[in-house]
Amino acid sequence: MKTVLIDRFLQVPDRSFFLFGPRGVGKTTWLKEALPSAFFFDLLDSTLYLELSQNPGHLEAMAGNLPKNSWIVIDEIQKLPHLLDEVHRLMEAKQWRFALCGSSARKLRRGGVNLLGGRAVTRYLDAFSSIELGDLFDAEFSLQWGFLPYVQLDRENAADILNSYVNTYIKEEIKEEGLVRSLPPFLRFLSIAGQLNGQLLNRQNIAREAAVPRSNVDVYFSILEDTLLGHFLPPYRPNVKVREQAHPKFYWFDSGAARAAAGLLFDPVDRIWKGTALENMVYHELRVYNLTRNRNRSIYFYRTGSGTEIDFVIETRKRQPSSNARVVCLEVKLAEKWDRKWERAMRSLSASDRIHVDKMIGIYTGKRAYHFDGLDVLPLKDFLIRLHKGDVF
Ligand SMILES: Nc1ncnc2c1ncn2[C@@H]1O[C@H](COP(=O)(O)OP(=O)(O)O)[C@@H](O)[C@H]1O
Ligand SMILES: [Mg+2]
Repeated sequence: MKTVLIDRFLQVPDRSFFLFGPRGVGKTTWLKEALPSAFFFDLLDSTLYLELSQNPGHLEAMAGNLPKNSWIVIDEIQKLPHLLDEVHRLMEAKQWRFALCGSSARKLRRGGVNLLGGRAVTRYLDAFSSIELGDLFDAEFSLQWGFLPYVQLDRENAADILNSYVNTYIKEEIKEEGLVRSLPPFLRFLSIAGQLNGQLLNRQNIAREAAVPRSNVDVYFSILEDTLLGHFLPPYRPNVKVREQAHPKFYWFDSGAARAAAGLLFDPVDRIWKGTALENMVYHELRVYNLTRNRNRSIYFYRTGSGTEIDFVIETRKRQPSSNARVVCLEVKLAEKWDRKWERAMRSLSASDRIHVDKMIGIYTGKRAYHFDGLDVLPLKDFLIRLHKGDVF
C-alpha cells in the first residue's frame, strides 16, 4: 500500500514544548517527521516505562552524551508525570530541549506535577485540516466521517475505524488512566454527549437523561476537555445588561468521533446532524488556524434573548477604555441556496454601537460567492482557503 504523508501546519518551536492532542491525530507521526534526529523515548514501550518509573535518572544515561540544544522527545508523558522533575533538571544541567507529548494534560495538571515553570511552551495538534488534506479534501465525506488521519486515509473503513476509536481508545484510556471510578455511567454520559454535539449545554437535563448525579456530569465534561476530545464554546456577552444566554455550547474535536460516541455510525446521517457537522468543521478549522498561527483570539457564539443566533463570533480586538471591541461574525448554513434572512442576527449585532463588527461572513454549501451590502456569502471551500490565507482574522 502506498503511504502518503500529509504535511502538517504545526511548526516546531525553537524551545522545549509540550504537545497535546487527542489520540490518533498524528502527534507521534509529526514528531518523527519534524524532529528526525531527536532522541526518542516512547513510554508506551512497557520495559522502558518500567525502567524509567523505577530509575528516572536512567533518562540521562540513556540519552548519553548529547550536545547542548539537542532535542529529546518523550512520547506519552502523561504515563509518567514525575519524570518531569528529571526533565527539568536536564534542561538546566545539559541545556537539552525536550518535546513532551501526550493525549491528556489532566494527569500532568493534577497532583503537584512539575510543569517546568514556564520553561516549555504548549502546542496542540488536532485532526487534519481541510487545507492540509489539499486535493484529498472531500467535503461530503468529511461532513459524515470527520478528519481523523486513520479515517481520512482509509475511507472505506471509516465506520469500523471510528467504532474502535471510541470503543478501544477512548474507553481504554479513560479506564487505564483511572479518570473515572466506574465506567458504565460514564459510557451513558458519553453517548449523550455525542448526541449533543454543537448544542447548548444544560447540565441538569444531561444528568437526568444519563441518570448520573449532576456533579458527575461536571467531572465528565472536564475529562472530555482535558483529553481534548471536546471544547466549550462560550456565549459572547458584550453587553451584560441585556438578557443573554449564559450556557456554553459543546463541540467535539471531530464530528466523526461525536457520531461514534452517539452510536450513529451505522445509520445514515440526517440533515440536522449534517448541519451541525458543518458547524463543527468550521469550528475545527478556526481552532487549527488560531493555534497553528498563534493568533490566540477568543471564539464565541452569540445568542440574544429573542433566540437569534450567530454561530461564531471571533473577537479580533478586546474592548479597551477608549475603544470598542472588534469582532468577525460567521453564520454557517448547510444549504444550496443562501437565504437573506440568515443575515439578520449578524446585521443586528453590527448595528449595535458598543461593538465594531469588522466582517460578516455567511458560509454555505452552495456554489456561488456573493457580496450583499457589507456582508460576504462564501461557499465552504472559498471560506476555508480565505481563512488559512489569513483573510478572515
Ligand atoms: N501526517 C500524516 N500523514 C499520513 N498519515 C498520518 C499522518 N499523521 C498520522 N497519520 C496516520 O494516523 C495514525 C495515527 O497517528 P499517530 O501519529 O500515531 O497519532 P497520535 O500520536 O496522535 O496518537 C498513524 O498510524 C498514521 O497512519
Ligand atoms: Mg502517539
